[in-house]
Amino acid sequence: MCGIIGYIGEKEAAPILLDGLKKLEYRGYDSAGFCLLDNGVLKVIKDKGKISEFDDSVELRGSRGNVGIAHTRWATHGEPSKINAHPHTDCKGDISIAHNGIIENHSALRELLIAEGHTIISDTDSEVLAHLIEKFYDGDLEEALIGALRLVEGTFGLVVLSKNEEKICVARKGSPLIIGIGNNEMFVSSDATAILNHTRRVIYLNDDEVASINKKEYNIRNIDGGNVDPEIHEIKWNVGQIEKKGFKHFMLKEIFEQPSSLENVLRGRVKGNETKSSVDVDYKNIKRILITACGTSWHSALIGKHLIEKMVGIPVEVDYASEFRYRNPLLNSQDLVIVISQSGETADTLAALREAKSKGAHTMGIINVVGSTIARESGSGIYLHAGPEIGVASTKAFTSQVLTLFIFALHMAQQKGLGVDAKIFDELKIISKKVSECLLQSEEIKNVASNFKNIKNFLYLGRGINFPVALEGALKLKEISYIHAEGYPAAEMKHGPIALIDEHMPVVFIATNGATYEKILSNMEEVKSRGGVIITVTDRDDVVINRLSDYVMKVPSTICELSPILNSIPLQLLAYHIADLRGLDVDKPRNLAKSVTVE
Ligand code: G6P
Repeated sequence: MCGIIGYIGEKEAAPILLDGLKKLEYRGYDSAGFCLLDNGVLKVIKDKGKISEFDDSVELRGSRGNVGIAHTRWATHGEPSKINAHPHTDCKGDISIAHNGIIENHSALRELLIAEGHTIISDTDSEVLAHLIEKFYDGDLEEALIGALRLVEGTFGLVVLSKNEEKICVARKGSPLIIGIGNNEMFVSSDATAILNHTRRVIYLNDDEVASINKKEYNIRNIDGGNVDPEIHEIKWNVGQIEKKGFKHFMLKEIFEQPSSLENVLRGRVKGNETKSSVDVDYKNIKRILITACGTSWHSALIGKHLIEKMVGIPVEVDYASEFRYRNPLLNSQDLVIVISQSGETADTLAALREAKSKGAHTMGIINVVGSTIARESGSGIYLHAGPEIGVASTKAFTSQVLTLFIFALHMAQQKGLGVDAKIFDELKIISKKVSECLLQSEEIKNVASNFKNIKNFLYLGRGINFPVALEGALKLKEISYIHAEGYPAAEMKHGPIALIDEHMPVVFIATNGATYEKILSNMEEVKSRGGVIITVTDRDDVVINRLSDYVMKVPSTICELSPILNSIPLQLLAYHIADLRGLDVDKPRNLAKSVTVE
């Protein structure tokens, strides 16, 4: 949700900022801009549109300066336009800012500043920050920033330049920012992917910290004045992991990475018929588990509920993080609250985690991005190690979350002395091989997709542990193809969605072997008899399923608990191919952002 990068050093800043911004584009991509400090002048270049449009910008190419900031925007206040794009400056162009987050009291601040003679030209909440810092500026940018922030309510990842000082000042509250340490150069970024080409040594800023950075050193302190002694982390990801490697889109590459991302989940956690865990929780004293997350991560939470309740016998509740934080949840020290987040930065999930901690529950994070805020704030945690996920629609993180929840349930069952069927471990050993088998069908699924690229509505139906898979399949399709799609429990269809069924309504059924397989066949009959078009994900090859299905997407058989992983693969590929055949920008779907750091 908005990406920020800053550079100070001895090289030309513009190409570094442009390259970094491209790596951050998944965070928002409706407009972008740069501000370079060149011989005591701040030069701003910005516009509506994607970052690639700056590749040919003569103005940017001709801009000099070894200090600069840049921003890619996901609009919250004010439409995507040149004037609303960041960086913003004060009236005189002496101060420049790029901001990620929301300034909640921007209207009051705007009135105050206008009354004092400032002219505010954009519709954004962010522009007031530039004017406010200018109001407090008296030769020391850091002091002016702190003075301004004392009046600000809301969230910010903020980078600031002054035309008078060779430094970048930054501040963080609620929106991530890291400092990258190089040789005679420093970087600031919303996440590590943008600076990996230059350095692996980073500092994660915490909330309420401000920093002043020149090319040789950084000075971090608390907004209230206390000194901060930061820890320097070494990033383990490599640059190759954030390249497309011959795939047309990051999303397709990430779909195809799933055999190895799933192996990464298993590595070190399952040995023979034993599970290992670094999670510091006294399983015997946990009486209830609550899982909270957003988007795709919420779907894996729903699967987690099935897994934990079945395998461990503990009641599990699942909440949208945005609802959990405001419903005043009743929690105590016998509750374990699990938060799931790919990015580890989702604002609602972070707030839910803080709510749970403040009420005395145990907390645990299931997170992909190492060093992210949620990872750092969770009482204990499990990293997915899925590698960077760049495509806005989550794929490999989802299957890794499901497998992580499965291993967690398995571990908890073993810790509680419950019997675990040996077949489970046999299946775990070959699950990534079975995912590879699913991927072999990509071209066949593309053929299926070609029949549906102009369809307007889709229904996805599943039951039990595969109902959340239906929700996820529908979400994938609507996110990247803009086709309306709904996921429903198959048996609930007759209480409403059945009214929609006709020859123009494709229905995707998840019909793999399990307790409700026969029931699903009946639901398929109901759709067939109303003229619906059926696409079936199944591990079966029998007369009935073939008669009922217009199109079949085959998956290998597995145990019910692991079936969501295999069943998700053809649904990811179906959504991908439909969107690609429609000629859409699969990796950067309109209006979405990968990391939603505002409420
Ligand atoms: C955004 C993304 C989704 C993601 C959701 C939760 O909406 O577009 O793909 O599932 O945020 O993100 P998280 O990083 O917390 O898993």
